[in-house]
Amino acid sequence: MHPLLQPIDLRGLRCPNRVFMAPLTRQRAARPEGVVGELQAEHYAQRASFGLLISEATQISPEGKGYPRTPGIHDPAHVAGWKLVTDRVHAAGGRIFLQLWHVGRVSHPHHQPGGQAPVSCVAKASIAQISILHPDGRREMVPAGMPRALETHEMPRVVSDYAHAAANAKAAGFDGVEVHGANSYLINQFLSGSLNTRTDAWGGSIGNRLRLLLEATDAAAKAFGHARVGVRLSPMGSVKDLPIAPDDRDLMLRAAQELGDRGCAYLHLYNHHFGTAGWDGPFDRALAEGMKANFRGPVVLNGYARDVDAAVRDVRDGLGDAVAFGKLAISNPDLPERLRDGTALAEWNDQLFYGDGPAGYNDYPRALAAAV
Ligand SMILES: Cc1cc2nc3c(=O)[nH]c(=O)nc-3n(C[C@H](O)[C@H](O)[C@H](O)COP(=O)(O)O)c2cc1C
Repeated sequence: MHPLLQPIDLRGLRCPNRVFMAPLTRQRAARPEGVVGELQAEHYAQRASFGLLISEATQISPEGKGYPRTPGIHDPAHVAGWKLVTDRVHAAGGRIFLQLWHVGRVSHPHHQPGGQAPVSCVAKASIAQISILHPDGRREMVPAGMPRALETHEMPRVVSDYAHAAANAKAAGFDGVEVHGANSYLINQFLSGSLNTRTDAWGGSIGNRLRLLLEATDAAAKAFGHARVGVRLSPMGSVKDLPIAPDDRDLMLRAAQELGDRGCAYLHLYNHHFGTAGWDGPFDRALAEGMKANFRGPVVLNGYARDVDAAVRDVRDGLGDAVAFGKLAISNPDLPERLRDGTALAEWNDQLFYGDGPAGYNDYPRALAAAV
């Protein structure tokens, strides 16, 4: 049997294979408030044979938004929309977690309630370019807005936004949630030794920088239990702008330990070097191994682009237990079956990653249909 097609148990949730769908923002939620519907239900249901589906990143609060047409999970209308998705996925035999997202400073007043400044751990702007969609459909890239530092007294409110969002995810029928602690967004900003120079209990030392990650995870667990809360981290740095600080390595090892102590569903490690082969080369493989050892539970690896062989090798070598595929999941709705049958994998069209409607989203054929 293909090594990625063996079943895996995520702390009690049985997944029929180890081919997971990585979280993928597609910016097709209905405007203005980010409600998903039949379009997304069809998309995720087409991919129900993946061992686990992880949803696109989804805002826990209006303040957590930084992109056009990304979905939310903070309002009853969001719950109703996502319920269509989870019902279709479950009817098709699948399992789906929702990715809980707060972008922090990777935003712009355009996306913020009342046109306010975005928030972060400190008042230092991201170098990210932010996409803005004008009412006439024109897209524009603008520099990220200058954030304001969250006040100490606001932090419990941010944590409770995670709890509220997770409770909504539960009401929407999700099997669990993934806390997005990777890719330069809010939690990653607080984790970062190069950015988080706060002097209160939420910054500075490793323990303080970990506080938001752990409190958000515990908040999400109020709805689901830790066994249904996965956590995504990008321990080798980030695609955007958080340079690695000398003690970030120790922080990541401690994060894995703490999350393992809680019995979290899985630890999802994102290798940010898009399109390169596996975890070799410039990556700190020893760090990934150390995190796996510290976590003592299922580790999901991600970042292999089309190099399935590298992913298989790393799972065989024990670096991880499952693999989340991003771009391959976009273009191969039947990826587990293709791996089983040795069918050629379809290429993705990156011009249609973000956009509108079913093109480049729900029109990638299954292999059998393609062969007819
Ligand atoms: C179109 C697109 C959207 C993405 N959206 C998200 C997201 O919402 N949340 C997230 O954690 N990562 C996101 N990522 C990163 C992917 O989950 C994944 O880490 C990346 O594509 C590398 O995996 P791959 O080599 O299998 O594609 C996105 C990547 C792409 C290409």
